[in-house]
Amino acid sequence: TNLSALTTLGVGGPAGTLVAGTTREEIVEAVRTADANGSELLILSGGSNLLVDDAGWAGTVLGIGTHGITVEDGATAAGARLVTVEAGHHWDDVVAHTVGAGLSGLEALSGIPGLAGATPVQNVGAYGSDVAQSLVRVDVYDREAQQLKEFGVGDLRLGYRDSLIKRSTVNGSPRYVVLGATFALYEDEGRPVAYQQLAGALGVSVGDRVPAARVREAVLELRASKGMVLDRKDPDTRSAGSFFTNPIVDEAVAATLPEDAPRYAGQGEGKIKLSAAWLIDHAGFHKGYGLPGTPGESVAGGRASLSTKHALALTNRGNASSADLLALARHVQAGVRDAWGLTLEHEPLLINCSL
Ligand code: EPU
Repeated sequence: TNLSALTTLGVGGPAGTLVAGTTREEIVEAVRTADANGSELLILSGGSNLLVDDAGWAGTVLGIGTHGITVEDGATAAGARLVTVEAGHHWDDVVAHTVGAGLSGLEALSGIPGLAGATPVQNVGAYGSDVAQSLVRVDVYDREAQQLKEFGVGDLRLGYRDSLIKRSTVNGSPRYVVLGATFALYEDEGRPVAYQQLAGALGVSVGDRVPAARVREAVLELRASKGMVLDRKDPDTRSAGSFFTNPIVDEAVAATLPEDAPRYAGQGEGKIKLSAAWLIDHAGFHKGYGLPGTPGESVAGGRASLSTKHALALTNRGNASSADLLALARHVQAGVRDAWGLTLEHEPLLINCSL
């Protein structure tokens, strides 16, 4: 099996040993076996945040294939309902299920590709919301201690696209394997809308409460308009979402940028979050850059390009190699560095390759 078939970017060479874990026990057993045999382990969740090299992965590729959503009876002292999901459950089905059950908290995270267990690892977020806001607990297998472990949300050091789980490694691959996650959700009139663009789409103001089902609909529409909802027929969606993170810089650095550059406050004392998409676009790498007939065609032969719907998504136009995507990524990164003096950091995991 080629990993290209298992990733949304559609690149990646052969897998050594491919195994599937359809229960928590099977996942743990597969990890133990790989570790005991000294076989390097790649945990494959939804494949939507990976750029896998054309050389593939010689060791064990473990597909997370568990399913299940359990809504606990009764409310917590804070009035929340606890919902536990298995790591392999399709994330958007989790969102749809909870919204359908009249629970709010996850609706702004509608339409995000991938599986539930990956969401705490990089604190998945969108439209002013992230999983940190509703996450309570994550169940993992700790490969170093060789035992099961529960992390309370406070122990996870969740930050912008970051967590302790993402950073911890054992022999160069992830130390913790997520088995399940528990969220605290609310039976209320909806969470306050926290993103200007979403408020605009809903015709409300930031801070207004809107029923979860309406928010979900608006987010799905916004994401689709940006090519961020997977559609096999649309090459703009053959991506790993945002390819770079939005840089968080000192106020003094942000002050050197043009006035119309987007700036998001609330990132900590003296820090500003910038828009990677804007920095790319305004460095001359417009939507569709790299397509045949555009200035960037020579970089990757027109096989990889920026999405025609969003400058922050690198896309495979059909027959790109990992080298094509890396060449385009390096080229855009260098151009942004020349234009703004800032080095963008990649957001997807790079497997067996680097920028
Ligand atoms: N912009 C451009 N050119 C473009 C697109 C956008 O200049 O082609 C500028 C606009 O000024 C726009 C701004 O960039 O207002 C921000 O764009 P957008 O609202 O689409 O958000 P983003 O910062 O590019 C982030 C997340 C997304 C998430 C959206 C919505 C990161 C790296 N990305 O994108 O998450 O869906 O906000 O909340 O933080 C992902 O992580 O893979 C991802 C898709």
